[in-house]
Amino acid sequence: MSTTAVLGCMWGDEGKAKITDVLASDAHAVVRFQGGANAGHTIWLEGAKFVFNTVPSGLLYPDVICILGAGMVIDPFQLLQEMNTLRDQGLQFEGRFFISPRAPLVLPLHKTIDAGHENDANRVKIGTTKRGIGPAYADRTSRVNLLFGDLFDEEALRAGIANLHRHHYGEVRPIELEETSALLREAAARLEPCLAPTIYMMHEMYSAGKNILFEGAQGSLLDVGLGTYPFVTSSHTTMGGIATGSGFPTRRIDRIVGVYKSYFTRVGEGPFVTELHDETGQRIRDRGHEYGTVSGRPRRCGWFDAVAARYTALINGLDEIAFTLLDVLSGFDTLKVCTAYRIDGEQTGRFPAGASALNRAEPVFEDMPGWQEDITGITRFDDLPQAAQQYVQAIERLVGVPVSIVSVGPDRNQTIFRS
Ligand code: IMP
Repeated sequence: MSTTAVLGCMWGDEGKAKITDVLASDAHAVVRFQGGANAGHTIWLEGAKFVFNTVPSGLLYPDVICILGAGMVIDPFQLLQEMNTLRDQGLQFEGRFFISPRAPLVLPLHKTIDAGHENDANRVKIGTTKRGIGPAYADRTSRVNLLFGDLFDEEALRAGIANLHRHHYGEVRPIELEETSALLREAAARLEPCLAPTIYMMHEMYSAGKNILFEGAQGSLLDVGLGTYPFVTSSHTTMGGIATGSGFPTRRIDRIVGVYKSYFTRVGEGPFVTELHDETGQRIRDRGHEYGTVSGRPRRCGWFDAVAARYTALINGLDEIAFTLLDVLSGFDTLKVCTAYRIDGEQTGRFPAGASALNRAEPVFEDMPGWQEDITGITRFDDLPQAAQQYVQAIERLVGVPVSIVSVGPDRNQTIFRS
């Protein structure tokens, strides 16, 4: 029996889905605990591409139970669309896909508010996915949002929408109320089989010795409390989010795997100390296909930032690192790794709390030799070019956590396991 957490430890897009997929081969359940349809988890399987937004990527294994925990925000309409697409690709949901009644909903008004904030020139632009994530979490914190369980209780549904209207508009809008409740009732009829007491399910599975895997979304630097605030998402993407977002205590988790890419990327606004604005950045973007899965936006690219990486290893208590997209770095003469920041003339190895200090930080780089070989077919660590091995070892040394998995391509079998 084992319980494993797979957490993105950068600004998202670390390749978590591929690592989840690889580690889910002996899992009985895969649980998502935060975020919603802002995630874009892509898995390539025998040449076919599967994209998971709200649904856990464990769905690819036909016997794995997939759970959406209380800390997620559920857009019922987007979810139904996603389920249809995945069904068309041959995946099954019946009897194995369950949603917590406690999970808050993302409604059309949340998306409208999200887009309105993003398009308002007088506000700080975050560069959100416009999936309504922030406004939905804000409404939960304000104790006015509807929960997934309310969809199946007519009284709670109508009262909930009316309360939400009063909160946002200062009045109930009858036509909108009727429209929204009719649409939600329709969605509810299709989603009813998914409603389940997910907390008890997980604990019963745990007691029966089953393997449970927790699949993080976004990344630690986007955590609403511990990330690069305000340029963050609105959920807890770090280890503590598992407990509050699923109802499973973190002390029962045996293995915490942090996923890092071999270089850094960020999509949306916010500080990024090692960002490359030159052709090297463009080369990484092209080689790594660094364009957003959800929004299609080009991702900002930069060198590996060991200051940020050490910070996220620390706050998550990582046991091991899954190091992804190493193949993208083939062909560079020299690679750079940021080992410290210089802020206002002072050198530091600590990741600052404030976005403005981060904006002023200059990277202190260590140069590393690159390698020229294509490594996408290599399956043993010792067969990697010396320089690639040294690069991985340098990351282990700088972050202070062993690298147990190296990914050299998108497919399941392009994965190197180290003992
Ligand atoms: P939101 O989560 O849509 O509110 O967006 C807040 C910030 O998190 C923006 O910078 C987004 O680009 C970023 N973000 C949200 N989800 C993801 C993700 O899955 N990968 C990478 N960045 C994300």
